[in-house]
Order: sequence, then C-alpha cells, then structure tokens
Amino acid sequence: MRFILAIDQGTTSTRAILFDQNLKVAAVSQQEFPQHFPASGWVEHDAGDLWTSAAGTARAVIEKARIKATSIAAIGITNQRETSVLWDRATGKPLARAIVWQDRRTAAFCAELREAGHEAMITERTGLLLDPYFSGTKLKWLLDTIPDARARALRGELAFGTVDSWLIWNLTGGRSHVTDATNAARTMLFNIRTNQWDKDICALLDIPMALLPEVFDCAADFGRSRADLFGHEIPILGVAGDQHAATVGQACFTPGMMKSTYGTGCFAMLNIGRDFVTSKNRLLTTIAYRLNGETTYALEGSIFIAGAVVQWLRDGLKIIRDASETQPLAIAADDTQHLVMVPAFTGLGAPYWKPDCRGAIYGLTRSSGPKEFARAALESVGFQTRDLLDAMRADWGMAEDAILRVDGGMVASDWTMQFLADILGTSVDRPEMTETTALGAAYLAGLQAGLCPSPQDFAKNWALERRFDPKMDAGARADKYARWVKAVQATMMVT
Ligand code: G3P
Repeated sequence: MRFILAIDQGTTSTRAILFDQNLKVAAVSQQEFPQHFPASGWVEHDAGDLWTSAAGTARAVIEKARIKATSIAAIGITNQRETSVLWDRATGKPLARAIVWQDRRTAAFCAELREAGHEAMITERTGLLLDPYFSGTKLKWLLDTIPDARARALRGELAFGTVDSWLIWNLTGGRSHVTDATNAARTMLFNIRTNQWDKDICALLDIPMALLPEVFDCAADFGRSRADLFGHEIPILGVAGDQHAATVGQACFTPGMMKSTYGTGCFAMLNIGRDFVTSKNRLLTTIAYRLNGETTYALEGSIFIAGAVVQWLRDGLKIIRDASETQPLAIAADDTQHLVMVPAFTGLGAPYWKPDCRGAIYGLTRSSGPKEFARAALESVGFQTRDLLDAMRADWGMAEDAILRVDGGMVASDWTMQFLADILGTSVDRPEMTETTALGAAYLAGLQAGLCPSPQDFAKNWALERRFDPKMDAGARADKYARWVKAVQATMMVT
C-alpha cells in the first residue's frame, strides 16, 4: 500500500492527514498554535510555529500509522491563503512575524490606492479588489517598516512567500522557492489572465520582483523533502490554497458547481470554467485550480467570520464551553425574538468590503440570553452565505436549482445546515467526507504521482451523506433576509 501525506496549514491549527492510495484516511494529527493580536485589527502568526506544527504533525501521522516514509509516494500541501512571510534566504529566518489574511493594518493604504484610481486595473488583472486581505499590501508594509528590508530585497537576499512557499522552503531545506497558481492568485501581485507576476502592480507597491517565488500548476514537482525530516526524501507533488483544495476535494470540476467551506471564515467558490469573468457584484475572480497549464477560474465570495463567531461565544462571551453546545441552544431560542448579529469583528468581506466596519447585534430585549445569541450567531453564517450566492447568481446566471456542496467544521450542525438551505432557498449537500481540503491536496499530489485517477473519475467517488432541502416558506425567508440586509446597512453606517 502506498500513502499520500497531506499537510493542511490553517488559520488556527495545522493538521496532517495520511491518506492511503484509495484516498481513505489512515491517520490524523492536529496542533493549535498561538495567535498574536499586537494592535486592533492586527493578526500575526509566528512563521516558525507554522513550520514546526507542520513538521510535527507530519511526523506524528507517520508514527501513528506505523508506516515507513518510503511508502509515502507524495506530499500535498494546502494552506491558509494570503498570509505573508518574508525571510532571509541565507539563514532561512523570518524577518518578522507572518501577517495573517485577517489583518487590516493596510486599510488606509488600500483606500489611498482606490482614491488614486488604481482599483479597476488591479481587478482587471488579478480578479481581486483593493483590500488589506490580500498579500501585496502586507508585503509592502513589511518592506516599508523593517530597516533595510527593501534594499536587501533588491539585492536578492530575501524571499517572500505565502504559507505554502514557506513550508516548501523549509521542507526542502531552502532548495525550492516556489508556489502554485492558486496561492499566487491571492497575492494581488499575480496576473491571473497571463499567469505571470505583474510588473506594473509590483512597481505600484514598490515590491522588488526578486522576492517572488516561481509559480507552478497545482499538480507539479515542487521539490523533495530533506531526507533527515522523515528518514527519507519525499516528493512534494500537490499544492493549492485551502479553498481551492476544497473545491477540488468537493469535485467541483464542472462550470456551475459550487462549494462553501465553513472554517474560521466562510469561502464560497463557483466554478466558472476557462473564461475569466469580472464580477459586477463585488465578488472576486480567482484561479479555482490550474492543471496541465490550463486555468479553471472561479468566482469567490469570502466571509471573514463564520466558525469564529462560535469561538467568540465560547472564548469572548463564555456562554458555551464547547462549540457543540451552540446547536441545542439555538434550537431552544425564543421564536418571538428576532436578534440579528452582524459579526463584522474584522470588518466585512464580500460583497461589502468594509475593513473598518465592526460588529453589532440588533433586536435585544430583557429576555435575550445565550439561546438567542447562539441562534443569531448561527443564522449570521447563513445570511452571509446568502449574500454571496445572490451576488454569484447576479454575476453568472447560475441554474435556479444549483446545489451548494458544504464542508468544514460547522457543517456538522444539522440545524445550521437546514437554516442555510432555508435562507438560500437552495439545496445544500453535505458529503460523507468532510475533510475536503486535505483530500483535495492529497488528490492533487496523488494525481501527479500517478496514483489517483482523472478528475472525472475522482468525481465519481464523491458521496452524499445528507441533502438539506429548503423548507421555510418564501414569505418567511424574505422577511428574515430583509431584516439581515437592514442590520448590515445600519452597521456599516454606524461603525
Ligand atoms: O483566505 C483565507 C482562508 O484561506 C483561510 O481559511 O480555513 O484557515 O479559515 P481557514
């Protein structure tokens, strides 16, 4: 039996999952690592933690499964996207903590660029909007604030990378400074029409191009791990940003197919095929995946707070001890209360893009309590997904009966999935295999290794666990959604 090692480096934890050659899970290991919040709206990770947790969990699954590294045919990597690392090529040491995708510190600079009229050109080439979410302005901030960094970058002494690049650099002992097209697509420095780093955007942000990694397809030869790490060199053959890997893991290979992943945030992706389409409704255009040099595009809706709202109930409000308590509370909530929670803790993402906006809750009464808060928190995830799907429908003429495939931790809640189907007016499919992000990375690596079948055959193995059909009547759906729309508008005016 041969195995594929998937490393899934996420926002709050790193997981390694060992798959056998039939893509069945053989062992899992997970490690959380510290989050750093040095100022309001700032979020950082210690890049060393990202690497040690990846190496540690990878070693742990090999031990758990009691296999030799020689039976691992390939490594696949998937990762939190946009998070930016700058390191010294000679020592391999980061120059600063990684700036995380959620970090809003470059909001004012993005606004300046927008006022100066640069957004249309950036969207036209990268598919993205001018928002601090993406790596480009984070990298500029590092170069502007670390003494001597820009001069050293110009001399070729430094390297920039998203987390995949950073992990591959470490796995290969500095032999590979590479990335894949999906991660490159999130930097705001990569032209997704020509599949090249964009000289003009780099010049606009004063970013020396010597910093940038080489860009490969998602299934390609990214280098080999150092022999001393696992006792044997293992080729790294698959890489994709986590949302793109989930799109692959959900087998959304046909235009019109879409998935939504509920992790820290929620990211919906609609496969739009081989033609780039610019969103007219404030969605992003991105590379869904690139295989054999052929780019498949997607429209993406990105919501910054989904599962994180449940973490807030637990760690901030302390009204639950465990995420699993949220569903029973929500079910028991008083139906006559209409609390609406707008969880704009780190601003609002698609389709609003308001980095400075902050959260709010409406409709409080003296009897509002943990149950109503829990329901409002779970409903906020459904409402935000509805915003995205409405924008997708307006942009791309999706079929009326299109189905949403879901994955990620939150989809375990039947109540949340039923509410999602109700508020969308669309069926929601929960697959048997909900580790779709790691599965997608493993599949890409297995495809390149010659172990896995074509995308069409892989898609045949996608298995439904449960379909949630909409049950809410159209009037109730319209009323509830209208309340959300008003709440978001009010929040954007006040905060
Ligand atoms: O764009 C950010 C996204 O890739 C993070 O995903 O699952 O770590 O919340 P997740």
